[in-house]
Amino acid sequence: MNARLSSCLLTLALLAGCQDQPPSTTLQGDPERGRIALAQHACRACHMIPGLTGPETHVGRPLTDLAEQRFIAGSLPNNQANLVRWIRDPQSIDPHTAMPAMGVSERDALDMSAWLLGPQK
Ligand code: HEC
Repeated sequence: MNARLSSCLLTLALLAGCQDQPPSTTLQGDPERGRIALAQHACRACHMIPGLTGPETHVGRPLTDLAEQRFIAGSLPNNQANLVRWIRDPQSIDPHTAMPAMGVSERDALDMSAWLLGPQK
């Protein structure tokens, strides 16, 4: 294989690798507002959430280190747009999921995702 072709393939491999990365620095929305929106919508009733106190609950998984997860709810590739979609209308992704659609606005869902995917200080 000539050098030019192999460097081209290497570049492609790196680019493909990048698409696999979990979301990181380019988050939209306001994470602190998101933390409050998560509390107001009582997501904490079913999920333990970093930055929110409350009783132990295991209806849904703890939303800890969500940024490290490859998939949301086991099947949806994890990125901010998909997380917003999941939060607003989980049945559109998995009609059988036990998570209810809770009438979360686009803005609130974006801010929630910023908190859940961010460093969660
Ligand atoms: C009535 C309980 C309930 C409430 C309230 C609820 N969820 Fe869920 N949630 C679930 C369940 C059950 C799952 C697992 C879904 C699945 O895998 O099909 C889930 C899954 C999730 C996931 C994917 C988790 C993962 O590890 O892949 C996210 C993110 C999430 N919920 C966010 C929220 C947010 C944000 C709210 C508040 C707007 C909320 N949930 C409210 C029950 C709930």
